[in-house]
Amino acid sequence: MLTRIAVLASGRGSNLEAVIRHLAAHGEGAGVVLVASDRANAGALGVARAHDIASAALEMGPGHATALRALLDDHGAQLVVLAGYLRLVPAEVVRPWRGRVVNVHPALLPAFGGAGMYGARVHRAVLAAGARLSGVTVHFVDEVYDRGATITQWPVPVHPGDTADTLAARVLRVEHLLYPRAILAVARGDVRLAEDGRAEWTPRATTATAAFLLRDTTDDDLARSIDAALGC
Ligand code: GRF
Repeated sequence: MLTRIAVLASGRGSNLEAVIRHLAAHGEGAGVVLVASDRANAGALGVARAHDIASAALEMGPGHATALRALLDDHGAQLVVLAGYLRLVPAEVVRPWRGRVVNVHPALLPAFGGAGMYGARVHRAVLAAGARLSGVTVHFVDEVYDRGATITQWPVPVHPGDTADTLAARVLRVEHLLYPRAILAVARGDVRLAEDGRAEWTPRATTATAAFLLRDTTDDDLARSIDAALGC
């Protein structure tokens, strides 16, 4: 079990909040021990402080990779969780934590991802493409933006008349339910980065189930579907 989780976040920290709460209730000893941000005024640092979790603002100068690695080492981080982190995680950090760095992306990768595809830009691109389906992707992180092996995905419908904001809100709701569960699955070893570069789930978990998010689906229904799909 990977119990010591570090979170890197650039923004308001709503996924961070969801992760902290889920782990507090179901974490089997796993919890967030450090929150670091490339933005000193990120809401995520305030979320960390509110939960009495160590927090740090990262200096983005030339020594940034070494400093980040040292920070993660100092806090004994076993799993690194990106939650709305806008920077590329340096190879010096990805390599030693390979298979233990995860990210959430607010669309179905490999479409609508890559450098510069974050936040509202993702949802605008989905709408501009006329896609009927978006969703959430949780993936292992490698040296390239949004490229690492997919751990799990969950579909979210695009509704007629959607704006980037309405679509973002529908997707974010699923992020908050899916991401903490996927993180716990990685922490428990239910899913790992295999030799062939793909994510491999233990047999008791099946990611095949993908229930559509219907208009009247409650959070409890959705959480039960996700739990069933991930074998939680
Ligand atoms: C989320 O939509 C996440 O998928 C994306 O950025 C947003 C971060 O939101 N990468 P928050 O900071 O977790 O509230």
